[in-house]
Amino acid sequence: MHNILCLNKISPLGTDRLGENYTYAAEIENPEGILVRSAAMHDMELPNSLLAIARAGAGVNNIPVEKCAEAGIVVFNTPGANANAVKELVLAALLLTSRKIVPAIEWAQTLKGTADISKQVEKGKSAFAGPEILGKKLGVIGLGAIGVLVANAAQTLGMQVYGFDPFLSVDAAWNLSSDIVKAASVDEIFEKCDYITIHVPLNDSTRGLIGADALKKVKKGVRVLNFSRGALVDTDAMLAALADGTVAAYATDFPDDALLGVENVIAIPHLGASTPESEDNCAVMAAEELKDYIENGNIRNA
Ligand code: MLT
Repeated sequence: MHNILCLNKISPLGTDRLGENYTYAAEIENPEGILVRSAAMHDMELPNSLLAIARAGAGVNNIPVEKCAEAGIVVFNTPGANANAVKELVLAALLLTSRKIVPAIEWAQTLKGTADISKQVEKGKSAFAGPEILGKKLGVIGLGAIGVLVANAAQTLGMQVYGFDPFLSVDAAWNLSSDIVKAASVDEIFEKCDYITIHVPLNDSTRGLIGADALKKVKKGVRVLNFSRGALVDTDAMLAALADGTVAAYATDFPDDALLGVENVIAIPHLGASTPESEDNCAVMAAEELKDYIENGNIRNA
């Protein structure tokens, strides 16, 4: 029997995939594998029995990857398994940052009980007006599974899309429509785009990617979307840029205290991958990776 420690609730489609030779639980002796979603593992003592950790998701910044490498523990992730879910939320955020939908809905609720709602609605129509995305330039930084889906989908909505990837050769990632512009550098995206969305992993070279320097180069009134990791954007620099109008709106899947309650910030509680479909896909891929490694020594997505 192989023991698997489940640090988060994982879709049963994943745990079923492990099969009858596996026991899994939130607490278990001598685990050979760990299945994890977002639980922070940096302070955890790694059991001697542990062979591999599978993250049901793309980012592995909740896992002590270097410590695992030193101990010979393989770390898997599930690239692409939640890409569609994230793409759909990013598309929603493009519209949310443009059309002031969230404050407009909140305001409309305050009209309950008002005598002449239609007169009030007239005021709302101008107070919450916002631009269309058609024809606007969208910069996609990071052309992995999610960035590519976002770029292609935004183009079908009529945006002019610029793509740039700081790690991959753009041609290697270029599973895109030929109408999408290959930006020569991240600065070209900063300088030209009306909307910027970031789809890179968090590491030492990407931390603070959108910081004071970048925000000096952006087009005034840019809208910024961060559905990758909070620390890719420097919060203080972003707050200053929102206050002076450099950034018209910031949508983030990573609320932090300083951003909450700030006008033109749309903070979403890390919902990018939170769809039943994506949770099933990630759980199945993670469980299969773990099983294949434990039983056959095969390594994929490590
Ligand atoms: C990811 O890295 O893919 C997401 O953070 C997944 C999640 O929400 O668990």
